[in-house]
Amino acid sequence: DLEKKIRKIRDHVNEYPDFPKPGVLFRDVFSVFQNAELVAMLREVLIAFATQIQPPVECVVGIDARGFLLAPFIALELEVPFVPVRKKGKLPGKVASVSYALEYGEANMEIQESSIKEGQRVLIVDDLLATGGSLGAACTLVKKLGGVVEACLVLMELSELKGRLNVPTNVISIIKY
Ligand code: PRP
Ligand code: ADE
Repeated sequence: DLEKKIRKIRDHVNEYPDFPKPGVLFRDVFSVFQNAELVAMLREVLIAFATQIQPPVECVVGIDARGFLLAPFIALELEVPFVPVRKKGKLPGKVASVSYALEYGEANMEIQESSIKEGQRVLIVDDLLATGGSLGAACTLVKKLGGVVEACLVLMELSELKGRLNVPTNVISIIKY
């Protein structure tokens, strides 16, 4: 039943060759959101995976921008806070920052300092794991604030890139390519 829903979601992720640059096959999670029935399935699948995590998490972090589509479904179900990790310069107030590697060069991500409590058990959520740079940076930020990363959860994993080796915690992926 869950497997069938996962297959349906997979069938509705549109693929774009050579976007945003030559050689990249872009997997567009937004296409799933064209259909409300699929969104309901996606929500159910995410919750099924997130509720398996023991001990239960106390906070769900989503990564800018597509992680914001998924993380709030889980936070709402678990009745815990949702916290954004954003690209540099987007979050107001005091922030912690980290730089991370991109395919060419580097970028910075930030989190609001007061958003995670010392010792809080955190789940980090994103749509897709490629090189692991984004998830790795989010882990660093959560730890800077004293949080404990219980796991990372992604809808899609590009397995051949071995990105999970760059993430210092358990990575759960729902769809593997
Ligand atoms: C994409 C994707 C992940 C990240 C994965 O986001 O949504 O966050 O790349 O790649 P990595 O594992 O190599 O870090 P992107 O940086 O394109 O930002 P967007 O969500 O704002 O489009
Ligand atoms: N982020 C990094 N690689 C990606 C891909 N192939 N599709 C969608 N988002 C990505």
